[in-house]
Amino acid sequence: MAEKKVGICLLGCGTVGAGVVSILREQRAMLRQRTGIDFELRHVVVKGPEDYPANAAELPMSTDAGAAIDNADTDIVVELIGGTAVAGTFVERALRAGKPVVTANKALLATRGVELFKIARGSKTCVAFEASAGGGIPIIDAISRGLAANRIDALLGIVNGTCNFILTKMTQNGWSYAEALKQAQRLGFAEANPAMDVQGRDAAQKLAILAGLAFNCRVTEKDIFVSGIDTLDAMDIQFARDLGYVIKLLAIAERKEGSRLSLRVHPSLVHKDDVLADVSGSFNAISVYSHALGHALWYGRGAGRMPTASAVVADIISVAQGIQGLLFNQMQILMDVVPPVSVQPFEQLESRYYIRLSAKDQPGVLAQVTAILGRHGISVASINQREGGEDRTVPVVITTHKSREGAVQLALKEIDALGTILRPTVCVRIVDQPEEFAAA
Ligand code: HSE
Repeated sequence: MAEKKVGICLLGCGTVGAGVVSILREQRAMLRQRTGIDFELRHVVVKGPEDYPANAAELPMSTDAGAAIDNADTDIVVELIGGTAVAGTFVERALRAGKPVVTANKALLATRGVELFKIARGSKTCVAFEASAGGGIPIIDAISRGLAANRIDALLGIVNGTCNFILTKMTQNGWSYAEALKQAQRLGFAEANPAMDVQGRDAAQKLAILAGLAFNCRVTEKDIFVSGIDTLDAMDIQFARDLGYVIKLLAIAERKEGSRLSLRVHPSLVHKDDVLADVSGSFNAISVYSHALGHALWYGRGAGRMPTASAVVADIISVAQGIQGLLFNQMQILMDVVPPVSVQPFEQLESRYYIRLSAKDQPGVLAQVTAILGRHGISVASINQREGGEDRTVPVVITTHKSREGAVQLALKEIDALGTILRPTVCVRIVDQPEEFAAA
């Protein structure tokens, strides 16, 4: 049989792009032997000559993306530019020309995913986006195909490597948030402007993609309650540890009554025996509970040059073999063909809570606080006043039994209005593992 040749047009040659170049060139023979397809890198397009990579002389470089996309020798367009404006224009151009697109761009999917998927369908082509969530971990393939026989009940993920690195350093070295962030930036995990990561938006965009596939509905970033790690105090990490927990930024999607989903990204106290507690540094992990398989965990590198390139090249292969085209057009799971999600209002969440008060050390304060909690139906599981706070205050750490988010927020407002509470109360949700094989 004649060997099939597939021409690749790579848009963007930054960190991940360089990894894709490296795999396509250095593993070309292995890929050919494994797939029967010869993947030829025919265009590598960057914005200007100043963006040329060090090995530009060996590559088919250019700065005219439109011409490269339109060229008859381009079979698959790989978008690794990032951002939404320029990337969106080129992705749209490729799809309108009937060329399949591989992208890692979760922000583009979050803002224009529905529209672009519709264009792809209209042009009888497809989009592949494995690298948009979980980096190199093949979680999108796992949810879309591997778990296709399952009703998924819950998905809990550590999906932002930067945040996990920062929290790990704060936990293991006792560093402040600022110290840990600085180190993350020095090592190249965190961007110079780390807002998307540390404020939880990157994790929310990934959760929107994963939850949409897992629960067959269209999830957007604004459906998700988001709270980042940028306001965490090292003190809470130490107190949590004393209670047997570690703090992780979790992205959570859980099926609730009436097929509504609880969707949230927030710092969470995870018990030290929980598998997610051991996910350290820049690693990601996604824990999925489904009715037939039960609990399964996907663990690996969620960012970085070669791990992300691994997912991008897997998509290139899947597109070239026609697998992605079949999946894209036949499975009714993508955001443009599923109904919008029905979200459980956040105040209806039932959770356990870690609460830290900064209280004046004087008679009657704890009685005032527990009276307010009791009035809102919040049952205290443990209470511990620590010695030696700053500004004449003492930290009081409370954990609760399962309570309603709305009631907790009302109670904290009242508590913070007390003259004996000198700084805003800190509240972190305690996340217990969902029940495996929940009732049908
Ligand atoms: N900045 C992300 C992270 C990787 O730290 O996980 C890209 O989504």
